[in-house]
Amino acid sequence: MLSPKMEQALNDQINAEFFSAYLYLSMSAYFVATNFDGFANWMRIQYEEETQHALKIYDYINDRRGTVVLQAIEKPQTEWDSPLEVFEASFKHEQFVTGRINALVALAREEKDPATESFLKWFVDEQVEEETSVDAVVQDMKRVQDFPAGMFLLDRELGQRQAEASAGGADAT
Ligand code: FEO
Repeated sequence: MLSPKMEQALNDQINAEFFSAYLYLSMSAYFVATNFDGFANWMRIQYEEETQHALKIYDYINDRRGTVVLQAIEKPQTEWDSPLEVFEASFKHEQFVTGRINALVALAREEKDPATESFLKWFVDEQVEEETSVDAVVQDMKRVQDFPAGMFLLDRELGQRQAEASAGGADAT
């Protein structure tokens, strides 16, 4: 059984993951509206992965015979000043999520819940990947943002990204 504190914190994380999904879908919509279809594709895959993260926690709570309680999802930002600002916001958001995952691990230890601590290890590793991949885009974009041809090529490159095939999003990047 999950402790009430652990159950609440995991439910809160489902909400945080769905908010992340919503934020990335909003970023994707911004890129569609500003004619960067490749960046839009990249963000849409982020959206799909965040949804999988939420469902992974949803399944875990159910597996432990806890109770899932879904909460309202906050409205995400819809406007940004530039593509770089969007990706920088994404990087900052992932750092925030990493902090949340670390706090969950600390709580699992406090609650003497090794199963949840073990479950969270996937998320700890995933956050390293997520921060690395979005930071790589930020660095590339900083180099080319003042050159239309460079932005065109970067948009094309990010348009090649494909969703991971795994059912539970277990190999998501
Ligand atoms: Fe679910 Fe991007 O962290």
